[in-house]
Amino acid sequence: MTPVTTPADLVSRRAVGQSLEAPFYTGEEFFGLDIEAVFARHWIFAATEAEIPEPGDYVTVTLGPYSIIIVRDDDEDVRAFHNVCRHRGARILNEDRGSVGNIVCGYHLWTYGVDGTLRHAESQAPDFDRKCFSLKSVHVRTVAGLVYICLAQEPPADFDEIITRVEPYLAPHNLARAKVAAQIDLVEHGNWKLTMENNRECYHCVGHPELQQCYFPTYGYAEQDVPAALRPTYVRFLKTDADARTTYESLGLPYAAIEELDNRPTGFRIQREPLDGAGESYTPDGTAACKRLLADFPTARLGRLSFHTQPNAWFHIMADHAITFSAIPLGPDRTLVRTTWLVHADAVEGVDYDLDTLTKIWKATNDQDAVFVARAQRGISSPAYVPGPYSPTEEQVEAFVNWYVTRLKAHLERQR
Ligand code: FES
Ligand SMILES: [Fe+2]
Repeated sequence: MTPVTTPADLVSRRAVGQSLEAPFYTGEEFFGLDIEAVFARHWIFAATEAEIPEPGDYVTVTLGPYSIIIVRDDDEDVRAFHNVCRHRGARILNEDRGSVGNIVCGYHLWTYGVDGTLRHAESQAPDFDRKCFSLKSVHVRTVAGLVYICLAQEPPADFDEIITRVEPYLAPHNLARAKVAAQIDLVEHGNWKLTMENNRECYHCVGHPELQQCYFPTYGYAEQDVPAALRPTYVRFLKTDADARTTYESLGLPYAAIEELDNRPTGFRIQREPLDGAGESYTPDGTAACKRLLADFPTARLGRLSFHTQPNAWFHIMADHAITFSAIPLGPDRTLVRTTWLVHADAVEGVDYDLDTLTKIWKATNDQDAVFVARAQRGISSPAYVPGPYSPTEEQVEAFVNWYVTRLKAHLERQR
């Protein structure tokens, strides 16, 4: 009889420098493990503050079997609760987003405030104590307008330190006071880790002709590894980068790379880098897509602030707009990629920005990435698949996988 290969076996025999074995991407067992070991234990980017500008505004987020309500309370703070009624457990809010005065369960009308306290429950015994039945809260932190949640009882403790280090980069862009210009949900037909791995490299960027109009595809290459075809672009990048640093320094904008992707519970990376073309934004010619800048910057030519957090998010933040991306697993071979475009709260569509111009490059790029991810999933699902080697330019893919395997290993050890 062939011995059964367990997830612990697969984790312990993982070969560094190579892609993972197939079951990590295809199996129901790993899907459940990923939810418990990763999505239920770590800080997950779940929404932007711009999606819930007013008290009572909420979004719901699904992570495997969990549903979480993220709501702005009457003090304008962001709160998060499990979307499970304290009466007999019904899911309370069943829309992706909305606005409420109170959070009312549609089953027997238990009524909670937006601070999670139970305010009303009809026909109770005299000794019923409403104070004992508040919604179960979920840890939530806002990072310069980005909303992170953590389902663990004790979230990774390193997040506060990270916030302190990244807020000086993010805060000048005023994301907490921005508005949503567009949000697009795309379901990729691949495992969430393939979505993330694909995001963490530009080795495939020849497949993104629109993106390459304004993005330097030399990103991630050490000088000696830059392919001959990219040499002229690389030379232009070096010059643009030197000019951009002068601008950042004169404006007091931090730009240096901090890369701690796989050596801590909340892996992250942040860096301000130039864009190609006019250097202002993700548009076909690189000029700003929104005339009204996110803040009172004296120039729109700030390139992009690139921010990554493990396990599920990446961001591009320019002078004129910001784009947030989250990857949420829906099943072993399906992943929701949510892309949100933020502009200044007073920017007017059709006057300050044209929606098509604003979203064009990343709509095209996301669609192309979805094809790559689906192809990877299909190929990996073949019995002929064996793990292959990472190129040096896929260093961040490897960092993501290192981070992931470390989390999974720790989870499996806790279960022993
Ligand atoms: S289950 Fe929510 S009120 Fe009964
Ligand atoms: Fe891509």
